[in-house]
This record gives sequence, C-alpha cells and structure tokens, in this order.
Amino acid sequence: MIAPSVLSCDFGRLREEIAAVESADVIHLDIMDGHYVPNLTFGYVLLEKIRSLTSLPLDAHLMVTNPASYVERLAKIGVDWISFHQECEFHSHRLVQRIKELGVKAGLALNPAVPLSTLECILPDLDYVLLMSVNPGFSGQSFIPAALEKVRALRNMIDTDKMAALIEIDGGVNCDNAARIRDAGADILVSASYIFGSSNYAAAIKSLRG
Ligand code: DX5
Ligand code: ZN
Repeated sequence: MIAPSVLSCDFGRLREEIAAVESADVIHLDIMDGHYVPNLTFGYVLLEKIRSLTSLPLDAHLMVTNPASYVERLAKIGVDWISFHQECEFHSHRLVQRIKELGVKAGLALNPAVPLSTLECILPDLDYVLLMSVNPGFSGQSFIPAALEKVRALRNMIDTDKMAALIEIDGGVNCDNAARIRDAGADILVSASYIFGSSNYAAAIKSLRG
C-alpha cells in the first residue's frame, strides 16, 4: 500500500492535492503537537476538511505526548487508523484496546532508536507497526539505512508467529529505495516529499509500487 503524507502538500490547494493522490491506498496524517516533536502541524478542523474530501482510509500518525486524549475525537471525525509512539503512553496496551473498541485500526510507532523487542508483548494485538526511518518531526529527511534491517527482522517476527500486523515504513521513502523496502517486507510505504515534490503524483505513487 502507498500512503501519501499530506505534510508536504500545498495546503492552499488542499482539495486538488487530495484529489491528485486518489490512486493511493491510504492518506497519512502527521499530527504533531510542538512538544513531543519540534514541529506543529494540524488539528481537528483540518482533519474534518480532509475527511470530507476523500473516501480513502485516513491514517493518523500521532506525534504527541498524550495520545490517549485524542483518539475519541479522531474516531468521531472518521479516521480509520491511529498510531501513537510507544514512549508517549504509559499504558500502551490499554490505549491499543481503546482504539480498537472505537472501530479504528491500532498501530504502534517506533522511532529509529527504539528496538523491536519493545513489541514483544503487544505485537499480537496490533493491526500495524509504524517503523520510523527518519527521526519524527519533519518531511524531506534522508532514509536511515538501518531501518531496512529492522523491517526484515519485524517481518520475520510477524511471519514466524503468524501474526496479522502490517508493517508501515515512514520517512525518506522514494523511487530509489522503495524496491528494497518492499523486498525487506514492508506492507505500507508512507511518502510526503517524494510524492508531493514530484510533477505527477499518480506517476510517483506508481513508481513506489514497482
Ligand atoms: C515525519 C513524518 C513522516 C513524513 C515523511 O515525522 O512522520 O510521515 O511526513 O516525509 P518524507 O516522505 O518527506 O520523509
Ligand atoms: Zn508519519
């Protein structure tokens, strides 16, 4: 699956920008609070607008220090997937269950320095794992090569125990590294600057599919 992140879109032309990525599978929404990460993006008002502009599933990536306080409202808006960062929530198991009770797919996001071992007791409960291949906060950064091995190792963990969690990779994805990322076992490729920085978004999305 390909998940364009609107972080790099032209917000002054939001309707056209969203329409231009309709050949993708999911729309990725980078929600940053200016506290967990040194950047501030958008909130409920814009998310409602985006919801009204597309029928594609919406994937909210919460880069916030108190993710539990956002999930009810996001579910009400009609977001389909919610991920939060492991270190932002004391009770990650409880929050994963709460997200699922709301009828939303639940994911856990891991920064580049967070080891896969942190997933050991929660992986069977997850609908997806978001592996960061850059440090969170900004689009347009370079893919951290070690993330590739992390995708391979997570693929192995999931397949060995026949678990259902999907692997989402986020940061620095482009047409030069997409094949290697897919081969390593990623299911969902997030891309902001590569897609929205190209002259033809549909062609860019296609190039990531291989
Ligand atoms: C970074 C965000 C990413 C970002 C990806 O904190 O989580 O989703 O938008 O941007 P690119 O694809 O430009 O690296
Ligand atoms: Zn993201």
